[in-house]
Amino acid sequence: MSEIEGSPVIGRPFGIYIHVPFCSVRCGYCDFNTYTAAELGEGATRASYADTAVREIERAASVVGRRPVETVFFGGGTPTQLPAADLVRLLGEVDDRIGLTPDAEVTTEANPDSVGPEVLSVLREGGFNRISFGVQSAVPHVLATLERTHDPANVERAVRWAREAGFDQVSVDLIYGTPGESVADWRTSVEHALSLAPNHISAYALIVEQGTAFARKVTRGEIVMPDDDETADKYLLADDLFTAAGLGWYELSNWAVDEAARCRHNELYWTGGQWWGVGPGAHSYLDRRRWWNVKHPAAYAQRLSTGQSPEADGEVIDDATAHVERVMLETRLRSGLDLTGIDQVRVDATVARGLATVEDHHLVLTREGRLLADAVIRDLLD
Ligand SMILES: C[S@@+](CC[C@H](N)C(=O)[O-])C[C@H]1O[C@@H](n2cnc3c(N)ncnc32)[C@H](O)[C@@H]1O
Ligand code: SF4
Repeated sequence: MSEIEGSPVIGRPFGIYIHVPFCSVRCGYCDFNTYTAAELGEGATRASYADTAVREIERAASVVGRRPVETVFFGGGTPTQLPAADLVRLLGEVDDRIGLTPDAEVTTEANPDSVGPEVLSVLREGGFNRISFGVQSAVPHVLATLERTHDPANVERAVRWAREAGFDQVSVDLIYGTPGESVADWRTSVEHALSLAPNHISAYALIVEQGTAFARKVTRGEIVMPDDDETADKYLLADDLFTAAGLGWYELSNWAVDEAARCRHNELYWTGGQWWGVGPGAHSYLDRRRWWNVKHPAAYAQRLSTGQSPEADGEVIDDATAHVERVMLETRLRSGLDLTGIDQVRVDATVARGLATVEDHHLVLTREGRLLADAVIRDLLD
């Protein structure tokens, strides 16, 4: 990794997000900014994507200068739809032009059926040190409802290959609350995930995103979402099993074996860090300004190839907005909400209801509070 030179604008941790907007098929529930080859048409291809993204990295470098990049996160879409050499090249551009810290966390998301041993070795040797697999479930009928293309055997192989390639930071994503998923099914998925011995797990309640094929099926009554009590039971079951296996929660939907296994990139988002998001639709946050890029890969490529900024729009985050965002994000963390500037009466009411405790001037959700986090946040902000 290159040596980091001093930067005039440090202060807060800085990361880079690189969005890769490609998937081999679209899962019915997903509304991420991602495209299959058929959806993409002309104007933006996987083959030309790295050249385009390099142009944005050059623009980023011209704005931020050299400053220590503590985390790089390749997300999607499916980053591993690009050749591994392209991902390594993009990481190298970030290092050469902006500068990675010697212990930078470099993550890629991956679908279990989109990587083989060769790809994983190229990524590991190219500087990636963390991999996050989208596993979602280990139960075939749940995977089918989610329209996933992999099966539990793919997952075991992919994780084994990742370890053999030298990844010791392995995370898995799970989804609970899929229609038709019983509590026993969910237990099977959690136990399967734990059998892979990841050092990090994210477990998300399935969100019905408007405009997706999945939402249309729910509207037509073809599939029925579980009730909130069952979803809460699944959260608690997962938390019990993860905790018993040595993974503690550090954010509502995230568990890790120890502090070093936490996703530092996401922590940067949650704790007021700054980042540059490269890629179509990517968001950035720097010096109190948030902006986001044009969404379609063809429009994004067209802007950059003609020397224009890919930015679609932006906003300055004023003090009031920054406060709301801090409450929303910090309340979800095990480290809790710093109580500076928070109304004491509301804090006392939350504690009296058994939804949180106060530790070292921070409000920390109890287990009950974690189930009602959105309501707690609303009460703190009202
Ligand atoms: C960009 S995807 C992960 C990488 C990869 N494309 C994959 O799916 O395996 C990020 C994660 O978001 C979660 N996710 C996507 N859509 C969701 C939804 N509607 N509700 C809950 N979680 C969702 C999934 O767990 C997924 O693994
Ligand atoms: S969940 Fe992952 S694989 Fe499925 S469409 Fe979304 S980004 Fe692509």
